[in-house]
Amino acid sequence: MAFDVNDIRGEFPLLSRQVYGRPLVYLDNAATAQKPRVVMECIDRLYREENANIHRGVHHLSERCTELYEEARARVCRLLGTEDRGEVVFTAGATAAINLVAYSYGEMALGEGDNVVVSEMEHHSNIVPWQLVCERKGAEVRMLPFDDEGRLMIEKLAELIDNRTRIVAVTQASNVLGTMPDVAEVVRIAHSQGVPVMVDGCQGVVHSVVDVKALDCDFYAFSSHKLYGPTGVGVLYGKREWLEKMPPFLGGGDMVGRVSFGGTTYAELPLKFEAGTANYIDAIGFGEALKWLDGQDRVALVDWENQLRKAAEERLSEIVGLTIYGRTPDKCSIVSFNVEGVHNYDLGMILDKLGVAVRTGAHCADPVMDHFGVRGMCRASFAFYNTMDEVDALVAGVRRAVQMLK
Ligand code: ALA
Repeated sequence: MAFDVNDIRGEFPLLSRQVYGRPLVYLDNAATAQKPRVVMECIDRLYREENANIHRGVHHLSERCTELYEEARARVCRLLGTEDRGEVVFTAGATAAINLVAYSYGEMALGEGDNVVVSEMEHHSNIVPWQLVCERKGAEVRMLPFDDEGRLMIEKLAELIDNRTRIVAVTQASNVLGTMPDVAEVVRIAHSQGVPVMVDGCQGVVHSVVDVKALDCDFYAFSSHKLYGPTGVGVLYGKREWLEKMPPFLGGGDMVGRVSFGGTTYAELPLKFEAGTANYIDAIGFGEALKWLDGQDRVALVDWENQLRKAAEERLSEIVGLTIYGRTPDKCSIVSFNVEGVHNYDLGMILDKLGVAVRTGAHCADPVMDHFGVRGMCRASFAFYNTMDEVDALVAGVRRAVQMLK
């Protein structure tokens, strides 16, 4: 199925706006993606016509919202390649999903003298939760490094794992380097030593077709808002065998079977991990985003994103003094860079005045910054609705900013 980028852009209302009197060039998609009109219309309709709390009432609206919420879960199951709805937990976001695992699995599995292996290219949200639980438990966080090209050194994994390793945490795609490590190989090595793997799929799920069963990972987390859905919703996939064993993370309504002061039983999966009123409106909105994506040729979309990324890399590389971080062949559509003698904030601010939105700073990945000895970078991240004209605008903007700043 071919696609026309202009047709697609027409479905994302925000893309046609201007900033400072110039057409917006939105290249901060790795931070959050824009939403198709159908998602906004769905949320608007829910609040106007159908809103009622889920899993709680016998009345019409409550049953309707429950049905729509569970349909959204079924769409996530299809996205990830699991048939077991008990393995798909809605959370407040990817960060909440990873914290759930770190806390609940960590409570159960980690003890003094144990360790957790975490890759050097992780976002803070796949580092800090492990540090917190390791501190509580007297365990150690070990780092799996990447090289100067931005390649994760998976060959070092086997030697980092020992009989006290309780989990390996790795990203499917670095939010700074764009690197897509061979996560299946990470899983294979970890499993050969009996160690489960937590995958941060925040960027990976956007830029690849995921099959958690083929990957055989134990946990997989991502958020809706980077995948064209609303903010405030995330997903934790966990193998049933783990989720069954793990203690609840948050206690409250909806996650219980029967409560008494003599003792409480818990709900079946996945509700055991969904305490309180879920963000069901946005989860249903996310289901709508997935429905929209299901109608697209995702392989063609990813291919287009890669064409944009390669064009940007080629053209930016021609600028004297510009360094691109992350040069592995298997990358997603993220280009992080610095120009010698230019501060990334200054560059980002001038680009902004030209209508080009990029992210600046440390990208919630201080260890990646430390690796390259920098405090921050500029990052352009492309979505399938971006165009080659927008690549031109980025490159021209960087050239102009560099002239002004040097
Ligand atoms: N994790 C998001 C990013 O990389 C916010 O920008």
